[in-house]
Amino acid sequence: MQLSKLRGFRDLLGLDARLLGVIEARARQVARRHNVSEIRVPALERLNLYARSTGETSDIVEKQLYVVQRSSESLGGDDPVLRPEGTPGVVRAYIEAGLDRIDPEQRYFYCGPMFRYERPQKGRYREFYQFGVEFFGRADAAADAELIVMIDELRRELKLELNFEINSLGDARCRPALRGALLEWGRAHLPQLCQDCHQRLERNPLRLLDCKIDVKLTESAPKTVDYLCDECRAHFQTVCELLADAGVRYNINPRLVRGLDYYSRTAFEVVSAGVGAQSAIAAGGRYDGLVETLGGAAVAGTGFAIGVDRLALALDAARFEVRPDAALISLGDAALRAAMRLAGEMRIAGLCVESLSPERGLKAQLRRADKLKARFALIIGDDEIARDVVQLRDLKRSVQQEVSRAEVVNRIVADTATALGSPTEGP
Ligand code: HAM
Repeated sequence: MQLSKLRGFRDLLGLDARLLGVIEARARQVARRHNVSEIRVPALERLNLYARSTGETSDIVEKQLYVVQRSSESLGGDDPVLRPEGTPGVVRAYIEAGLDRIDPEQRYFYCGPMFRYERPQKGRYREFYQFGVEFFGRADAAADAELIVMIDELRRELKLELNFEINSLGDARCRPALRGALLEWGRAHLPQLCQDCHQRLERNPLRLLDCKIDVKLTESAPKTVDYLCDECRAHFQTVCELLADAGVRYNINPRLVRGLDYYSRTAFEVVSAGVGAQSAIAAGGRYDGLVETLGGAAVAGTGFAIGVDRLALALDAARFEVRPDAALISLGDAALRAAMRLAGEMRIAGLCVESLSPERGLKAQLRRADKLKARFALIIGDDEIARDVVQLRDLKRSVQQEVSRAEVVNRIVADTATALGSPTEGP
């Protein structure tokens, strides 16, 4: 019987899991500061939800859905699939709660696992984590800019260098002209187009711009920004101005189109140079027609999702390693009880403390304290209890001194104050 995990799925242990937790906690703080509230939606939704939003001809729906089969019945649009992304489920929940009619202006964040049947490689997994934000009822450019600013705030807090690429895809009024121009260009260059682009040409000519094979060729293709109507152009210009005002460094990339069908106007991607081929750390944009497409009122929408796993790859993991402030070493029964009390006081003071097994001798407990990379070892035996002291061993400097029991907590708090207050310290 095969009991190992499935290909593309991962177990995250220790620091790997902690990195995701740190990013999620930081992202929640950013969301909180922007008055964005949380939404939790199911991991299973009907196939139709994604076919109608992400797009019937998108790679995600055509090739990457995990369908959960309940019976031997043939598959249909009502069958549950594991969510490949968060946006459609959030839009569905928003409509189902009736908010599109009774209270349309809402802002939500979500985080959790998403599932796509992709070819696994570094930074690309079949189960991965997203932190996403969706704004409803905001058609203005300031909403798009605020979302990008949120990612920039998180970037700054995590001390990362990331590049912001933005574009405008136009709307229902001006997109047909761009589509037509791309179709014409594609037909004229048919012999030079790659196999995928031959398909894209008929199904979704906008995606010709996304070709990773014929990059040189697509440079001569019509540019999105040249086909915008006056309203879309003004919207895009305001987004750019607001980003510049907020100090966000961005590039306009007229070849940026997204693999999901619901976008209109603003589309953006955030890329990192240091994480390998899967460099898109976050992406998003405006989806003004989506609420209506899914059966709701005509309410504007805009949002983004961060790939938490990819952001974790961009971090300097060593900065987030947890090292206990102290390891407590007890020698004997009475010492064990005294050590447990002392550990309790230290934890109330906010310190990270591990009490070591009293079944080991002094040497073995010291070795364990070293292995844990604890800052201090505190040693308590019968003699220390009798004299109301503790042996305080600085494991970094290998020096030991006797400290009175009453003073020891404050001593360690003072010594670790910088570590505790450090902005890189996670949850
Ligand atoms: P997306 O571009 O498909 O957009 O995904 C957003 C981010 O999720 C990507 O930039 C990437 O960091 C991460 N990601 C995607 N696939 C994988 C994978 N297989 N392994 C690891 N990370 C991955 C969306 O999902 C939209 N819902 C974003 C959005 C929200 N647009 C508006 N609101």
